[in-house]
Order: sequence, then structure tokens, then C-alpha cells
Amino acid sequence: MKVLVLGSGGREHAISKKIAESKLVDKLFVAPGNAGTSIDFENIPISVNDFEKIGEFILNEGINLLVIGPEDPLVQGIRNFLENDDRYNDLLIIGPDAYAAQLEGSKDFAKEFMLKYNIPTAAYFKAEKSNYKEATKFMKNLNPPYVLKADGLAAGKGVIIEHNYETACNELWEMLNGKFGRASEKVLIEEFLDGIECSAFVITDGKDFVLLPEAKDYKRIGEDNTGPNTGGMGAVSPVPFFNGDFRNKVLQKVIIPTVDGIKKEKMNYKGFIFFGLINVKGEPYVIEYNVRMGDPETEVVMPRIKSDLVEILIAAAKGNLKDKNIEIDSKVCTTIILASKGYPGSYETNKEISGLENISESIVYHAGTKLVQGKIFTSGGRVLAISSLGKTMQEALKKSYTSVEKINFDNKYYRRDIGFDL
Ligand code: AMP
Ligand code: GLY
Repeated sequence: MKVLVLGSGGREHAISKKIAESKLVDKLFVAPGNAGTSIDFENIPISVNDFEKIGEFILNEGINLLVIGPEDPLVQGIRNFLENDDRYNDLLIIGPDAYAAQLEGSKDFAKEFMLKYNIPTAAYFKAEKSNYKEATKFMKNLNPPYVLKADGLAAGKGVIIEHNYETACNELWEMLNGKFGRASEKVLIEEFLDGIECSAFVITDGKDFVLLPEAKDYKRIGEDNTGPNTGGMGAVSPVPFFNGDFRNKVLQKVIIPTVDGIKKEKMNYKGFIFFGLINVKGEPYVIEYNVRMGDPETEVVMPRIKSDLVEILIAAAKGNLKDKNIEIDSKVCTTIILASKGYPGSYETNKEISGLENISESIVYHAGTKLVQGKIFTSGGRVLAISSLGKTMQEALKKSYTSVEKINFDNKYYRRDIGFDL
């Protein structure tokens, strides 16, 4: 079969590599992709939001399976666009429709869903300009810090955590007045949950699911979790505290009720669900849903999947996931992100990358890279994800960090403390 993966990050390189391991796959395309996906597969220069061109390519090339990496095209309705046209009747699609994608695209929608299906999450208040006074009263009754979340997609920047009440009120007012554009016309004020974060992932067909390996992401730019939030600077899987009782609670209190809710709401959901969780004294709470895989979590999840991922994706897309199993490698996988100087602010690009040919013990997933006349250059904030498998976390980390030292570009930056807290 022919597969098209949409996206251009480390996540898409990792998903593509796993898909390409399947005997069912004859040809794999990535749009728009990066240097790594162009070397391993074939890049198509089409943006993930250009539905017309994506559709044309699918028809011309006879694509059988479409896997959508990032959230934006899902929230914009790429599934609806394709499903509303008979020419795509035979296309298998991984990713929910626009209505279901609101689980990520609208924090308010996600909260209402969690309340309806009794899924543990932080107490909240939905603030709008018209109820600003009430909103500040709700906040006054919370213990600081105060968590303010823009309702809509804000490129991962829409959450503000503020200790001072007056500053939080001012911040709320600014958000309601367009700080994040239309995304913050509504703002959720949330109770602060004090615990350790981790993420769980499933593939669902809207009725059943298979559980993928869990992961922990390191979101801050600086060591010891300091400095601004990034897309993620490294990740590990498995997560040592995600076992026994906690894992069981995540399944019983979060994952099963979520998939049941999706089924009861008759959502058109065939794809990945990412559960952003926080472990508060052994109890799981949902911080957010994402309707796609995480990045860099995917770069530690994919290497641990032993089963044929394409078989599972086909079953999910056809609504046949019931009784499907997945085999997971018991090894530990770690990934370290190499980033450009300046990230997550404005960052340098166009630096030549060297040393990739010396890597044998790790998998190098490309993110912000481009190929120019046979040479590889940086082109994004997060440049490469260096993933390694090991019998123990120490072994995996040692391999990743040894590989990291062999790869060079001007001012490469990475965190040296990934996994050290576990
Ligand atoms: P989100 O975009 O919803 O994932 O939020 C971004 C980050 O803010 C999360 O990864 C958490 O670190 C933090 N966060 C979000 N909601 C809460 C909460 N209710 N309590 C504590 N931290 C939170
Ligand atoms: N690493 C977090 C995310 O993909 O949303």
C-alpha cells in the first residue's frame, strides 16, 4: 500500500520510520517533511493545511492510508474535507474529524466532556469578558498559583501560571482582550494541581483502543526544569511511576471513560489520543487531551513498538480495533533534543550539521532540518531528536548522550539532565 504522512517534525520522522518497517507498505511519502524524511522516504512540498493540494496528491498517487501528524489540519477539518468527497471513499485516514478534534482545539469543549464523563481534572471557571468580575471572585477563592488557559489553539503558549493575584487578574483581562487573538476570547481559570506530569497514548477506532507506551516529556528549556516552556527538550519511556496501581487508575478512570465518551457521543474519531496527565499523590488527573501524538514523546514511543503499526492503523481506520493487541519492547527508550541557539524565542538557522554518519547506537530523527545540495542544515528551533534503547534508563541515556556529542552544528543546545529525576 501507499502511505502519506503529514507533518515535518521529529514526530513525523519517527512515525514514518515505524510505518516503513511494515511489510504492507510499498511506498511512503511525507508532506512537507524535513531532510531526514527526504533521505529515508520521499518528501512532497505541500503544506499540511493545503487540503486541496493534499487531496489532489492522494488521488494522483493512489494513496491508501493518510496519517495526520499535527493538530492544526485536524482542527481545521481535513477529515471532513476528504470524507465529504466520494473520490476519497476508499482512503483510510488516521486523525479525528473537526468536531472531535475540539478535544484539543477547545479547552472548554474538553472540560465539558471530562465533566460529563466523570474524568478527573482540575476544577475550573470559564471566563469571558462579560463575567470578568465573577471570574476574579472564583480566582480569589483558589490557592495560588493561578492557572489561566486560552480556550483555543495558541501554539503551545496559551497557558499562564501566575503566583500573584493582582497580576493574574491583569493577565486574565489582557487574554480576554486578545492577547492570544481569538484563542483567548474565552479563558479557563483552573485550580493548580501539584504533582508529576506524564503522558499516555492510545490508538482508537472510536469504540475500542490499544494502549501505546507512556512517556515523560521535559518541557522547559533549562536544566532542572527552569526557563520558558518549549515543545519538549527530551523524553523517556517507560515512566517508572506509571505502573501497578497508577497505571490501573489511568486506565479505569481516564482512558476507558474517555473512549466510552467518544463512543457515546458518536464522535468520528479514528486516530491517536494523547492524555496529558498529572499524578497528584498517586491519583491521575487530565491536564489536556491532544488529538495526535506528542513531540518528542513519539520519538520514545515508536522505537518500543514491536508489532506492525500499519496493521493497527488500518484496523483503527476501518473500525476493527476490537481484540487487536500490541507488542511492546520492555527496553527503555530516551530521546535528547538538539536545539538551535535562541529557541524557544527567535533562533538561529542555516547551520551545517556534521557527524550524523558517526551514529550507530542511536536513532536520529530529524525535526528542523533541510537538505541543500547534499548537505544538511538547521532550519528550525528543535533540530534533531537522538533516541536510544537500553536495558536500563542509564544505558539508554548513555547511548543518547554519547551520540549527541558526535553531532555538531554551531551553538547546538541540549539539556544534560533528561531522565535524571526518575
Ligand atoms: P497545557 O497546554 O494544558 O498542557 O498546559 C501547559 C502546562 O501547564 C502543562 O504541561 C502543565 O505543566 C501546566 N499546567 C496546566 N494545567 C495545570 C494545572 N491545572 N495545574 C498545574 N499545572 C498545570
Ligand atoms: N510534547 C508536547 C506536545 O507534543 O504537545
